[in-house]
Amino acid sequence: LRRVLSPQRLAGRRVLITAGPTWEAIDPVRGLTNRSSGKMGFALAQAAWEAGAEVTLVAGPVALATPRGVQRIDVVSARDMLEAVLAEVEAADVFIATAAVADWRPAQVSEQKIKKDASGRTPTLSFTENPDILATVAALPRSRSGALYCVGFAAESHDLQRHAEEKRARKGVPLLVGNIGPETFGRDDNALLLVDAEGSMALPRAPKTELARLLVAELARRLSATP
Ligand code: CTP
Ligand code: CA
Repeated sequence: LRRVLSPQRLAGRRVLITAGPTWEAIDPVRGLTNRSSGKMGFALAQAAWEAGAEVTLVAGPVALATPRGVQRIDVVSARDMLEAVLAEVEAADVFIATAAVADWRPAQVSEQKIKKDASGRTPTLSFTENPDILATVAALPRSRSGALYCVGFAAESHDLQRHAEEKRARKGVPLLVGNIGPETFGRDDNALLLVDAEGSMALPRAPKTELARLLVAELARRLSATP
């Protein structure tokens, strides 16, 4: 019903969203992940669908129901997420990266469960950097020409505005959405700071579902402003 009642601001647009954490294996039973719940990305997927978009959601391991109408692709690791995104991104008009992608993965994955050492020695992990999904997509020719509009997210513990501006420039995206974290992880509400080339705009604390609708309306405005 919401899709019927909502203004169809994104009708005919294709939106690709990443959400949730990634999970990086150490061995068959252990891995590294983070506290991202996926709620913001799932709320955005729902809001974009309600606004008339065709939505694909690439989700790391989360305990959330798929929003109605949304095509969901489940992935585990950052590399899986990149692969799924690259397979879908050619068709997209908008890419929104809300996922909390693990920055590093264990350099070696043990094929067998690592057993305790009788002498009490503890294992040491070394790491390899994961691919940056957002930066990879932002560097594609379609993004650089403006045919694909890329949006990044960032949770910062302090100096939100400065870090968000720096991150926007570093990732090469037109819009970066910042929030003060990680306290917002798992919560149903949030407060956002939208940072673009012109400056910034705050969206005051509200339920993530409400913020998602505001953000979708803002994206629709930006898309229709560009020829
Ligand atoms: N991101 C991504 N792939 C990664 C890391 C981040 O797509 N490997 C995306 C996130 O989905 C988010 C944005 O980049 O939209 C910013 O993520 P963040 O972790 O804040 O930035 P980093 O560049 O990883 O910097 P740091 O964690 O050191 O602050
Ligand atoms: Ca990071």
